[in-house]
Amino acid sequence: SEVYLNDSWHPAGEAMVSVFDRGFMFGDGLYEVTPFYEGKPFKLQEHLARLRYGLREIKLSFETNDLENLIFKALDRAGLSNIDCAVYLQVTRGKAPRTHHFPQQTSPTFLMYAFPVQLKGFRQMEASIMLAPDFRWQRCDIKSISLMANTMLNSEAIEKGHFENVLFRDEKITEGSHSSIFFVKDQKAYTHPEGPHILSGITRKVVIGLCKELGIPVVGEAVSLQEVPEADEIFLTGTTTQILPVTSVLHDDEEIYKSSEAGKITVRLQDAFHQMTR
Ligand code: PDD
Repeated sequence: SEVYLNDSWHPAGEAMVSVFDRGFMFGDGLYEVTPFYEGKPFKLQEHLARLRYGLREIKLSFETNDLENLIFKALDRAGLSNIDCAVYLQVTRGKAPRTHHFPQQTSPTFLMYAFPVQLKGFRQMEASIMLAPDFRWQRCDIKSISLMANTMLNSEAIEKGHFENVLFRDEKITEGSHSSIFFVKDQKAYTHPEGPHILSGITRKVVIGLCKELGIPVVGEAVSLQEVPEADEIFLTGTTTQILPVTSVLHDDEEIYKSSEAGKITVRLQDAFHQMTR
């Protein structure tokens, strides 16, 4: 398979980046994962807008106008134009002598590739999750490639046999290591408000829109750790996760929430999401 690096296509095994690239040295860069349902882009503009937001926040100037065309070319070249797949995009601050401060002149490094992914009828899937303290930084709104905390946290969940590690900060549930979370209580959907403590998930925004269409009130308020056991329904959202019912929640190795099946509102949202993407 091929990857696009800087300004040209390369066989994946032959693309080279400098060891002095700030992405390699500092994790100084951003990424996006953008889905294609049978080759059709889903919320591509929103993903590109989030990338532009991140670039502004980290003061990295990078031209994004040509990206859309390049992304379609990536699908085409990978032979993925008709199947479920995703495109990974990454921009780093590029190669420079190692200094903490941003170098004056930077030539960003841009990497992109398409890969097949199962965006299947997700109804048959359910997840168990665990909860842990959110020890990430205070700028989770930036989709940084520095994912040490996220990879540590998710690995702990996988080791213990769970799909995801969902995090809490000051006793408030924020989000998963690579997904957003919703709680349903008394027919209302609860999601952490936007801000520095969560990524503004594109799927989260889609779900908020679907709730409005379906007449399900959305409350932009964080759920506390103590409130988790009383939730009527819980589900995760994300580009590859889509809308995934949570049927078991563990905290300190103790099951604090259990449900025998996906909740009614969760299923309604899955149906509406399916209609949008197929
Ligand atoms: N995850 N929160 C975090 C920390 C994430 O890494 C992600 C995305 C989300 C969901 O965002 P979106 O709906 O825009 O994918 C929330 C990767 C990209 C994934 O699951 O594919």
